[in-house]
Amino acid sequence: MILFLFNALNVSLPMSMKSFKRTLVTAALPYANGPKHIGHLAGAYIPADIYTRYLRNAGEEVLFVCGSDEHGTAIPIQAQKENTSPQYIIDRYHLLLKENFEKLGISFDVYHRTSDEMHHQTAQEFFLNLYEKGLFKEEISEQYFDEEKQTFLADRYIKGTCPNCGFHSAYGDQCEKCGKALSPNELINPVSTLSDKPPVLKTTKHWYLPLNEYEPWLKEWLLEGHKDDWKTNVYGQSKSWIDGGLSPRAMTRDLDWGVKVPIKGAEGKVLYVWFDAPIGYISATKAFFKELEEKSFHYAYPQNSMIKSGQANDWKKWWQNDDSRLIHFIGKDNIVFHCIIFPAMLKAAESNVLPDNVPANEFLNLEGEKMSTSRKWSVEMEDYFKEFENKEDVLRYVLTAIAPETKDADFSWKDFQTRNNSELVAILGNFINRVMVLSHKYYEGVVPVASNLLEIDQQLIKDIQLFQEEIDHSIRHFKFRDGLFALMNIARAGNKYLAEMEPWKLVKTDETRTATVMFNAIQVCATLSWWMDAFMPFSAQNLRIQLNTQKENHVNNSFVQLQSGHTLGQAAHLFSNIEDDIIQKQVKHLEDSKTMVASTVIEATVNPQSELKPLITFDDFSKIDLRVGTVLEAEKVEKADKLIKLKVDLGFEQRTIVSGIALHFTPSELIGQQVCVLANLAPRKIKGIESNGMLLLAENEDGSLKLMQPGGAVVSPGSQIA
Ligand code: MF3
Ligand code: ZN
Repeated sequence: MILFLFNALNVSLPMSMKSFKRTLVTAALPYANGPKHIGHLAGAYIPADIYTRYLRNAGEEVLFVCGSDEHGTAIPIQAQKENTSPQYIIDRYHLLLKENFEKLGISFDVYHRTSDEMHHQTAQEFFLNLYEKGLFKEEISEQYFDEEKQTFLADRYIKGTCPNCGFHSAYGDQCEKCGKALSPNELINPVSTLSDKPPVLKTTKHWYLPLNEYEPWLKEWLLEGHKDDWKTNVYGQSKSWIDGGLSPRAMTRDLDWGVKVPIKGAEGKVLYVWFDAPIGYISATKAFFKELEEKSFHYAYPQNSMIKSGQANDWKKWWQNDDSRLIHFIGKDNIVFHCIIFPAMLKAAESNVLPDNVPANEFLNLEGEKMSTSRKWSVEMEDYFKEFENKEDVLRYVLTAIAPETKDADFSWKDFQTRNNSELVAILGNFINRVMVLSHKYYEGVVPVASNLLEIDQQLIKDIQLFQEEIDHSIRHFKFRDGLFALMNIARAGNKYLAEMEPWKLVKTDETRTATVMFNAIQVCATLSWWMDAFMPFSAQNLRIQLNTQKENHVNNSFVQLQSGHTLGQAAHLFSNIEDDIIQKQVKHLEDSKTMVASTVIEATVNPQSELKPLITFDDFSKIDLRVGTVLEAEKVEKADKLIKLKVDLGFEQRTIVSGIALHFTPSELIGQQVCVLANLAPRKIKGIESNGMLLLAENEDGSLKLMQPGGAVVSPGSQIA
């Protein structure tokens, strides 16, 4: 009766009341315009992989799809920066990302790409369907156009003064200084970043999805229907968007890179990247089944998948049957697109499948600072693999243990080391190794025969049962940190059991009891191998080799996994300590890349080849405080090849300035020199030293640096340069 009522009201059932046959897991399609870092991994890819691996192991029908997002303005921008074509950029990064994910054990069933012809078709059909139903609103508006480059300008391509805080180089979509969301026509004195000329307004037609019309439905489906089963950060952000009122959003753009708008009168226009990208999940599903039918695996990974056969048409089950469940793993910056816009698109297309959950994570910081690829403040996958060979699982472990599931979290190299050494090595690895070594020592690697269980054994079995239930519950509720913690508790319980039983003493007095204890301890190892598999697939496999067993041999709901008489494999260490010098090297690497970015800025400023920057007013210039100073002291900064620490006399005070010039000057030749100093540069820490100002230098054509100095006679320190 209750069920009937819910259906009649057309209200989504709470998750617990629905029953699903299959689960489609998606991870945000990464932009193919650069490498991805540990923030992306912790945000979406690792949790999605744990979830999928877990469901596969549990025998559920699950499909894990992803691919490269190859459209949007970011790609042509990147191409322009690198002086190459968008196609070159996407080919390069698509391949890199695909390989990186594979190396980390992210077990996609398919890793597709949105430049694929089939995706273009799928996205165009989707658009046409809504278009033919008359669901778009056509609107003519004025947009900024760059006359020199003959192109309309995406919001990001326009800069100008922020109307809110006066910051002179705010973007057309947001001011980076005060954070206000802007539209380009709010900018004062807008300039095209392509030509550095003021753009002109030109009329253009676009097709809008009237999100406002979906508000009542979104309130019912999302705000009512998912009050209890969506994470509070996701629900909260969605709610504030909906409560703030939604407005129509253009689903087309004036751009020549992307999926062409498939209607007359839309020449030179492409689909909005956030329209086509989520449709990429559908294209990826199609690609998987097409390749499965044709057995031509280009994008699909049949070795990962639990679906071993099927027909091209099977994709429909996953996107059209209402017993299919859709789960999107994303970072928090993607919430509005996956919780509001894509669902509205699906609703418009009368889809039976809508996202059931969107377990978005918050952000991961690095050593206390926001991660950024362009500022080189990040740990990219590629770099990690180079430095930490065969330690993919350590990264998976740490990023899960600190995952930003409810709020922003911080990755630090010191913490990484501690978690490896005192958790993976000291708790998990140590337990397994002790059991393996003792089994070989006492029983020649054969599982001994157990006899009567005592209460302490029963307690161990009960504890482990509880931890297993906790892992299951946690993973199914997207609480991967808790799940991992419960997994480690199994190892902790194992260690405690060994410490209390002391089989190494027992063996001298009571052989029967020793055999029982070791039998139990071996079962704990086997249990661990099963539950580790989703979190740390490589180590789980290594452990299975030691135990001489296979995943398929796992017995559900049973404490006994390996029978007496079973022969174990050789003992080996699953994890190894990470030494201080390795960690110091990583920290130094980060610090260095910071100074490298800083010195690139200096070089770019003085490079004679570079184009002139846009005009500034005298007011702009007068914000800069340049002074003459005299170098009093200079010394090299330890463990930083490029840095020199200077003490500079500015007359009214002495300053410490760190400068990236050690490859060009020796400290002694600097002492006594007069220099030009940018005196009102905000202080910043370089290699732990606070630097208060910057020396001005000119770069010669041969790359050598020269100090900017007052000509002629000595000038009193502190003199203003203007
Ligand atoms: N490329 C987007 C980003 O990195 C994510 C796209 S997710 C999908 O932020 F919905 F498009 F698939
Ligand atoms: Zn501002």
